[in-house]
Amino acid sequence: MDLDSLFTVDEFEAVAQRKLDPVYYDYIAGGSRDEVTVRANLDGFGRLSLLPRVLRGSAQRDLAVTLFGARSSMPILISPTAFHRLVCTEGELATARAAARADTIMIASMASTVAVGEVAAAARAAAPADHEPTLWFQLYLQPDLDDTTALIARATKAGCKALVVTVDSPVLGANERNHRNRFHDLPPGMACENLRNLRGDEPGNVRQIAMSPELSWDHIDWLREHTELPVLLKGVLHPEDARIAVDHGVSGLLLSNHGGRQLDTVPATIDLLPEFVEAVGGRVPLLLDGGVRRGTDVVKALALGAVAVGVGRPIVWGLAAGGEDGATRVLELLRDELDHTVALCGARGLADLTPDLVRPAAGSR
Ligand code: FNR
Repeated sequence: MDLDSLFTVDEFEAVAQRKLDPVYYDYIAGGSRDEVTVRANLDGFGRLSLLPRVLRGSAQRDLAVTLFGARSSMPILISPTAFHRLVCTEGELATARAAARADTIMIASMASTVAVGEVAAAARAAAPADHEPTLWFQLYLQPDLDDTTALIARATKAGCKALVVTVDSPVLGANERNHRNRFHDLPPGMACENLRNLRGDEPGNVRQIAMSPELSWDHIDWLREHTELPVLLKGVLHPEDARIAVDHGVSGLLLSNHGGRQLDTVPATIDLLPEFVEAVGGRVPLLLDGGVRRGTDVVKALALGAVAVGVGRPIVWGLAAGGEDGATRVLELLRDELDHTVALCGARGLADLTPDLVRPAAGSR
């Protein structure tokens, strides 16, 4: 595959769809139930216009962002997605190398098919000599706190710099494509490696991941007492919960509806962002994911108050199309689009992206 002939995330998706087993394509592309929220995430950006300023730009635009002491060369991070070995042989090793080459932050999924220690080692080996790559670990709090403790220990030992706790999954979302395709388990030879031998001789089975509707804010307090790492919550959607999260001392929020894969019919994250900005009042950094496919989407999210965005499916399409090089090209395309959009907005850098640059598109209200 000549990756240089692909110029958009959507083109990467089309190639991935041609290459992948349809069962795996459905698992990745799909969302829960009627997939209303999957579409809403994309439509949400489409319903916003950009209104540029003129005659105040700069030849060099600094896109770097610092999050919890770690610098990323751009405000586009890799959101956690499970099972990368389904789409390319090297799995998360390829993703980690792509993130390190692009000098951005990878949030490694707890449900990765390569153990987090190996993912971290691959990132370090691929990073430029003077540069420490940044890996964060996505965690589903386990009702058995010993399991959670063991997972945190693995992530900390691997050198992860933050824990991203996904709180939108009291039970698993219902992706009906998976039901129809009878896709319930990983193929032989693949496992959730972070769960292998967690406390005994567990095989790293997907079913070991316990979702629990009984988790509460007390568990967040417990977690903060059991780690030195910054704790971000991923999947808070109600602005009141955002306030509560900050009161419980979390270090950041990743505004996410899980790419439309948990509760269907929740709003697009970009539509919720202004309310979140108000609720959080600058007390912690706000990140956003869901439907980011273009540099213009990134600019809209940053202008409305996010400090960075995450991309989920675009990275998986990159991996499917061309492994490490494919994921790297997706990141570089998004970086170029972001830089180009910042320039066209008359901005010198991210600090110039202010809410007045974003308007509802004509006819969208
Ligand atoms: C996800 N997502 C996810 N989130 C999480 O917290 N833990 C996980 O293991 C996964 N796994 C996962 C697998 C696949 C195939 C997808 C598509 C998504 C959600 C992910 O982190 C992110 O919120 C969304 O993917 C963002 O939306 P976009 O960028 O895919 O539109």
